[in-house]
Amino acid sequence: MTTHRLLLIPGDGIGPEVMGEVKKVIAFLNERGPDRFETEEALVGGCCYDAHGVAVTDETVAKAKAADAVIFGSVGGPKWDGVPFDVRPEAGLLRLRKDLTLFANIRPAVCYPALAESSSLKREVVEGLDIVILRELTGGVYFGEPKTITDLGNGQKRAVDTQVYDTYEIERIARVGFELAKKRRNKLTSMEKRNVMKTGVLWHEVINQVHEREFKEVKLDHVLADAGGMQLVRWPKQFDVIVCDNLFGDMLSDIAAMLTGSLGMLPSASLGEVDPKTKKRRALYEPVHGSAPDIAGKGIANPIAMIASFAMALRYSFALLNEADLIDQAIAAALAKGLRTADIKSEGMTVVGTAQMGDAIVAEMRTLAGVQ
Ligand code: IPM
Ligand code: MN
Repeated sequence: MTTHRLLLIPGDGIGPEVMGEVKKVIAFLNERGPDRFETEEALVGGCCYDAHGVAVTDETVAKAKAADAVIFGSVGGPKWDGVPFDVRPEAGLLRLRKDLTLFANIRPAVCYPALAESSSLKREVVEGLDIVILRELTGGVYFGEPKTITDLGNGQKRAVDTQVYDTYEIERIARVGFELAKKRRNKLTSMEKRNVMKTGVLWHEVINQVHEREFKEVKLDHVLADAGGMQLVRWPKQFDVIVCDNLFGDMLSDIAAMLTGSLGMLPSASLGEVDPKTKKRRALYEPVHGSAPDIAGKGIANPIAMIASFAMALRYSFALLNEADLIDQAIAAALAKGLRTADIKSEGMTVVGTAQMGDAIVAEMRTLAGVQ
């Protein structure tokens, strides 16, 4: 029997609560097979700062590198607002992304039929929506140097962030984008601000080169990122795969999340390059929502994005496509029965807590799999 080693990192805020529901899914899969999952847990974020004075330890980074996949909850919260910038909770997640070279962040925005009513947009705009935001994750303004605040000595300060992209970084994310599009509706839309930013000019140029050289059969469009944001809320179904830099991807994926009903619905996969020898790639799976400190500890958070992120791990890291489908179908079935967490509640539906939603999804998995 194949055994996969998972590193679970629940993190802060609602992270541990939603991770608790993934553990139920893992327990069910371990009982049913075909593969087995061994899990280990580690601290990253504010909880790690409290325990060790840093947002992630070297030991945890090493464990993450050695694991077959990392399953990540969320980090951050007002409790750590005052801690030094380089040990703030988010720094732990950013270091993991960087040290594991997880440059490709896949954020699918799928509107479940049962949820078309919970979006703040009209039903016809979001019903049947199935798009992917592909976000570059290890470059751009998140990591560019210098990144400083300097005292100018005249009562003024100057803050600098640096947006940097090299050709190879744009090429490798472009390839992931074209490959993804080929498996879907064969359409890639690249978003940047080439009318203002040099990185946008290079981004546009390199995407065109990769297209011309390697993926002529895929339909490629370019849209300025501001107009792209507008088009995403105007008529999102015009898109298939959207590829963009780290910062635009962060913003556009939050917008895409609301199209699906709630930020609590969007999963993500952060992938590294495929190792030509082992054919494996490093990977971290996390919900797009943050730690939601305002509802943490109340047992009301929506565990669907976290559970769907685990389904992405089954799909992308372990090729367990049937099991991934089983999870996705179980989520759809629980929603179709009218179960809703508070963030997606609507008239006439049954509002449930985190654990009840997790239990319902596992129960649907049992039924769909014919296991009693
Ligand atoms: C995300 C989050 C992170 C980001 C934060 C927590 C650093 O917003 O994954 O979208 O900005 O990348
Ligand atoms: Mn974000």
